[in-house]
Amino acid sequence: MIRFDAQEQAFYLDNGRITYCFGVVKEEYLECRYFGRHIRRWGGSARPWYYDRGFCSNPDPQDKRFSLDTLPQEYPGMNQGDFRSPAYVFQTVDGRRVTRFTYQGYEILPGKPALPGLPATYVEQDQEAETLVVRLADGPTGAQILLYYTIFRDYDAICRHVEVVNGEADSLWLERLMAMSLDVPGNCYDLITMSGSHLQEKVIHRRPVTADSVVLDSSRGASSPQQTPCVILTQPDANEEQGQVWGINYVYSGDFQAVVQAGQYGGVRVQMGMNPMTFGWNLGPGERFVSPECVMVYSNRGLNGMSQVFHGLYSQRLCRGYWRDRLRPILLNSWEAFAFSIDQEKCCSLARQAAQLGIELFVLDDGWFKNRVDDRRALGDWVSDEHKFPQGLGALAQAVREAGVDFGIWFEPEMVSYDSDLYRSHPDWIIRSPAYDPILSRTQLVLDLSNPAVCDYLVEAVAKVLEETGAIYVKWDMNRHITDLGSAWLPAGQQRELSHRYMLGLYSVLERLNQRFPQVLFEGCSSGGGRFDAGMLYYMPQTWTSDNTDAVCRTQIQYGTSLLFPPVTMGAHVSAIPNHQTGRCTTLATRFAAAMSGNLGYEMDIRTLTPEEQEEVKAQIRTYKALRETVQHGAFYRLLNPQSGNDGGWNFVSRDGKTVVCCQYRILADPVRRTTAVKLQGLDPDAVYRRQEDGALFGGDELMYAGLSDHPVRQDFVSQVTVFEKVEG
Ligand code: DGJ
Repeated sequence: MIRFDAQEQAFYLDNGRITYCFGVVKEEYLECRYFGRHIRRWGGSARPWYYDRGFCSNPDPQDKRFSLDTLPQEYPGMNQGDFRSPAYVFQTVDGRRVTRFTYQGYEILPGKPALPGLPATYVEQDQEAETLVVRLADGPTGAQILLYYTIFRDYDAICRHVEVVNGEADSLWLERLMAMSLDVPGNCYDLITMSGSHLQEKVIHRRPVTADSVVLDSSRGASSPQQTPCVILTQPDANEEQGQVWGINYVYSGDFQAVVQAGQYGGVRVQMGMNPMTFGWNLGPGERFVSPECVMVYSNRGLNGMSQVFHGLYSQRLCRGYWRDRLRPILLNSWEAFAFSIDQEKCCSLARQAAQLGIELFVLDDGWFKNRVDDRRALGDWVSDEHKFPQGLGALAQAVREAGVDFGIWFEPEMVSYDSDLYRSHPDWIIRSPAYDPILSRTQLVLDLSNPAVCDYLVEAVAKVLEETGAIYVKWDMNRHITDLGSAWLPAGQQRELSHRYMLGLYSVLERLNQRFPQVLFEGCSSGGGRFDAGMLYYMPQTWTSDNTDAVCRTQIQYGTSLLFPPVTMGAHVSAIPNHQTGRCTTLATRFAAAMSGNLGYEMDIRTLTPEEQEEVKAQIRTYKALRETVQHGAFYRLLNPQSGNDGGWNFVSRDGKTVVCCQYRILADPVRRTTAVKLQGLDPDAVYRRQEDGALFGGDELMYAGLSDHPVRQDFVSQVTVFEKVEG
């Protein structure tokens, strides 16, 4: 899949469907040439014009046509005449920021090497991928940059990261480090990004790329609900079904920066990596620094085609472990019904009722630990509250299991309250500057995970509870962003390393817990989808998608989330009405239709359901169990965008192609009562499908090319779930 053509001085990464090509020019520089649909050879037909242009400096004095400012570069530096965004900036021991890394050679490896201490896509067998390592070096410092590129046999994705290896003499200060840089030709692209906020994550924004730069970033200590570390470029006329799309996503959960920069002579530069605002790294002589990874997907089948690649790669080669391919349990979570006022009696009665309804797992959310009566105290003290649980958590978990459901539990391990035994005994374990009182958020402070002692404490504290309870599920929350970046553990010269060291500490804690409790299902959460990112999925194969459980908002948020992440990664719950975030009332059926499109759960006091509602919930759960394999492990196609119109829709197709589930949502009733038809995707056009509700038969071609209309209902917030079975023979 990877070859170097010595005559053309060109690297080709090609799996028969996509080609990534770059070349060596003047023996020193890497020219970014092509990333797109498979081509047999790059002959330079679309090469940009090179001639003597104003203000362009010439590294080769004999060739005034050649300037780094006009060259599409593979991994551009600073201070060498390319005045666009650099991929790296290093400060040398003399305080200057002038380095010149030039091409030295390459190596091709079978498979894909792991990234030490970092989440990354992986292979199970070497034949699944090949990796190219290109070596650049700087003479005066003796430092090297290794550019890693992996191409997969089965996924149309290239994964990139870089490694900096310092020379033996002096320290090198890394100020800026991008995991990837890509110069695409032409200037006619749309840019799609996903920004948002708490309660409104993953809002899709689309605009043309114009003659300037767009910078996306997070300096919050988390990938954040405000921005998603993702850039999608499309042909202007690309849509869900057709057109060329390039999607780039960072496999990292902390601060990041992404740059989309239109060049003065055409061409667009895309970069993603560490956020220079909060990143710095003091690389000692001979030391190495490994960047997180970026996944770059190309699709010529529109946004759905791109998402299919991300979904396949992330569900199979980013998520890991026991739960990767298993059916995820239907859960009941205590939070929205009881918040902090939870106790043994409530838990047991909820668990009994849950079992009767067919729910499989009871999750004890916040409020279970000593003194946790509100959000002002107790974070960090992971021992059960003896007033709420007089016999302890072990007895509670046992009682829950005896009621007929499994037991799961909530933690927010990265945080601590002032009012806690942990803070009182380790005031130096928090992130802060000694010169100021630390700024609170939700009355809590952030633990300094750059300090190995803090990480050890967290592993042991969580492990003790898991051992005591035999919990099969953990919800791992994170409810504030990081201010006052300062560490009592790190020396002055390394304070700028804190943001990244925090993430490395967190990843090490999660890895140790994964190893120690391989059968525990971890679900990430950061006040909802505030850290719904590819980095977290490596340790936790599902994420709580949003604190907003309103069915209308949820279809919008899940639609946006699905650009990158498959439904099996999305926690989605039916909650009470009026919804606690929006005050909106939707039917139980519509709340279910939204929640059943991910990992179904209920988050309400199910003891107060009327007998009719209980029967409806039982039927929902039976339906979900029948469709669970299709929803969780089938293919997912977006059909109608509820973020941009009054109607939403998507469909699932099971792995064996036999079951199709189509979900349609209408936000407001339409007085004119127009019919909305969605055109299904992913079906076999030659097959016949039987509609479950009435046995009607339709060709796959008809469902895909003519579509499926919705029922006439005079009501706001309606939904329709239609199941088809492929007719054999
Ligand atoms: C924020 C989460 O998103 C909620 O689901 C809940 O777990 C609360 N934290 C608990 O404090």
